[in-house]
Amino acid sequence: MTVADPRPRTLAPFGRRRAVVREVERLGAYVRLRVDDGEGPADPRPGQFYMLAAAERWGAGADERPFLPRALSFARVTGGPALDFVLEAVGPGTERLAELRPGEGLWLTGPLGAGFPPPERGRPLLAGGGIGVAPLLCWQDELGPQAVALLGFRSAAHAEAARLFAGAVEVATDDGSAGHRGSVTDLLAAELDRDGEATVYACGPPAMLEAVRALCADRGVPCWLALEAGMACGYGACFGCVVPTRDGYVRLCVDGPVLDGALLEEVA
Ligand code: FES
Repeated sequence: MTVADPRPRTLAPFGRRRAVVREVERLGAYVRLRVDDGEGPADPRPGQFYMLAAAERWGAGADERPFLPRALSFARVTGGPALDFVLEAVGPGTERLAELRPGEGLWLTGPLGAGFPPPERGRPLLAGGGIGVAPLLCWQDELGPQAVALLGFRSAAHAEAARLFAGAVEVATDDGSAGHRGSVTDLLAAELDRDGEATVYACGPPAMLEAVRALCADRGVPCWLALEAGMACGYGACFGCVVPTRDGYVRLCVDGPVLDGALLEEVA
């Protein structure tokens, strides 16, 4: 699949490099890190990801092994280049990343993987769930005003991430504290009812991606899904990130993380 994959991908420089945190912004339940990556490429493709590890205190303690790097899609790139990442502290690695302060160091490897391809048909609809909204930011920036972002969150505190989007957004929350009360797939179904000529791009938790995949399959709408997996190496060596497809197993870090929804029986 990799050999025939026509998607443009920006190749990572060899090895990891030390970058510096420039800005930290609290966004309700999330944190946005802006990282100076002067040695990295300025043109990562939306949907590609990086492996991140704090340069200091990256592990449970002095006698403990360091954590594995955490794989995060970049949210935006600006001149420098400076990369924006949006994260939620949900475990020891992301808690440490969320504690970083301006001036602290970060080991980066990337950009890795293959991102979103151009729309096959109709208008682009972007569907994001929770922290999965991050890669849709730069994708909407690139696609322009035709791309509407449909964003689902648990609550208004999580929905603060919606203000990072420069283009049109519609918000849904599970508890109804912001936007539509319900799921992002409600918003997607309503958009497809209005105009089914679309290509859908989605990133979010597995249950949400499966709902998007099934909805698009029922309606014959092309969709591209950015999947998550535990990633140890990020460049194809460990096979820790394999997922089953109709064509057999693929490694998400090299063949994804964005996969054609038509290749998947189900997102589990
Ligand atoms: Fe190691 Fe994908 S993370 S092969």
